[in-house]
Amino acid sequence: MRKFEYDKEIFFDRQKALRGFVEDAAIVIPAHSEYIRNHDVQHSYRQDSNLFYLTGFEEPEAVLVLRPGKDPESVLFVRKKDMAKEIWDGFRFGPQLTEQQFPVDKAYLIDDFQDQAISLFEGVEAVYYSQFRDSWFDEEFKKLMLNVKTRRGRNGKGVLPVKDAYLLLGELRVRKSKFEIDQMQKAATASSMAFQEMMKQTRPGMNERELHGLFIHEVMKRGCGREGYGTIVAGGANACTLHYVFNDQPLNEGEMVLVDAGGEYQYYSADITRTWPISGKFSETQKRVYSKLLEAQKDLVAMVKPGLVIKAHMDEAISRLTDIMLDEKLLKGEKADIIEKQEYRKYFPHGLGHYLGLDVHDAGPYLKGGNSRELEAGMVVTVEPGIYVPHDDDSAPEELRGLGIRIEDDVVVTETGHHVLTYEAPKEVDELESIIGSA
Ligand code: GLY
Ligand code: MN
Ligand code: MN
Repeated sequence: MRKFEYDKEIFFDRQKALRGFVEDAAIVIPAHSEYIRNHDVQHSYRQDSNLFYLTGFEEPEAVLVLRPGKDPESVLFVRKKDMAKEIWDGFRFGPQLTEQQFPVDKAYLIDDFQDQAISLFEGVEAVYYSQFRDSWFDEEFKKLMLNVKTRRGRNGKGVLPVKDAYLLLGELRVRKSKFEIDQMQKAATASSMAFQEMMKQTRPGMNERELHGLFIHEVMKRGCGREGYGTIVAGGANACTLHYVFNDQPLNEGEMVLVDAGGEYQYYSADITRTWPISGKFSETQKRVYSKLLEAQKDLVAMVKPGLVIKAHMDEAISRLTDIMLDEKLLKGEKADIIEKQEYRKYFPHGLGHYLGLDVHDAGPYLKGGNSRELEAGMVVTVEPGIYVPHDDDSAPEELRGLGIRIEDDVVVTETGHHVLTYEAPKEVDELESIIGSA
């Protein structure tokens, strides 16, 4: 037996907030698919972030139909109870317990979806559903829309317009509540502590995967259910592969290790990157480049406040990183030309950051009225400049080849400025040199 562990009002409030956004519309949010890993074994399951955001419901094969301002407002279709299946796969709520415990007005069997849903579409003039995202439900949705079309046709109305639910929910999710920021602080603190442990236990000769395992252990110990995304532990030149996935190489004396990892606490993710010398001491070259990047990163974090235009933030990052590249003789020429021709992308090929929340690259539009959006209180963004010099880049000074450094923090926009959620993850040179290898 499992229990619904959250405050129902949090979810009802989110459902109600949609009343301000849509009228005479239904929002259809299916659960995430289950994926076979091999034979009859599934990948570990994680609920779709939008369905979790609106209901806290964690089972697969479920669909939420939400009709802001109508009665019933929220209807959840769920799997039936099945003792034979539950022996293998664990507890299921079934419709009765779902209706009692979860923040929904009604719960029905998923097998009855078509029969029940058709009446929920009476008086509805638009439907929000994200097609082609997670296809298990697309066919059911199509069938429902055909049935709705037949009914509407009799009344002289046409096909229901389908709009993207992901965009609608994104606008709601982009500003976090106090409750959400508290969850994110817990994810950030657990992850920051895990970074401290990884730093303490770093020794030349270890394998990348040992730090990965340690990170998982340390965040789970602190209440995280899982990682928020695939952890990157990249020693030496592996750091220049932006989404390095192997995590299976030895950590060599004299090189640095880049770790990009975030624990997920109650579905909210942290997203931290730190880069540190494996031996515990920076070489002169490492210290020089690291310190320049750190100074730029801290200045970029300091800029975060309501009203900062996201593109202006990125432009400042480009300017600062281009200065470093010129200073380090990675690039030659006029700064304005380099920026105009985007030559800095050779060594800084990604964005400055992204929204963070239930998803590591969280929902929410970056444009408003076609223009880059301003930061608003309640948004959470990452600030993650990086410089990566491929090991075989003959045009780069030899001492820099194979150096990859990123520094990433998670930052909440407050009414007056910002708060760095990941402040407990060390990044100053002296802090790093005293903690690395100290366990
Ligand atoms: N960890 C993925 C990212 O930093 O965007
Ligand atoms: Mn990130
Ligand atoms: Mn990251």
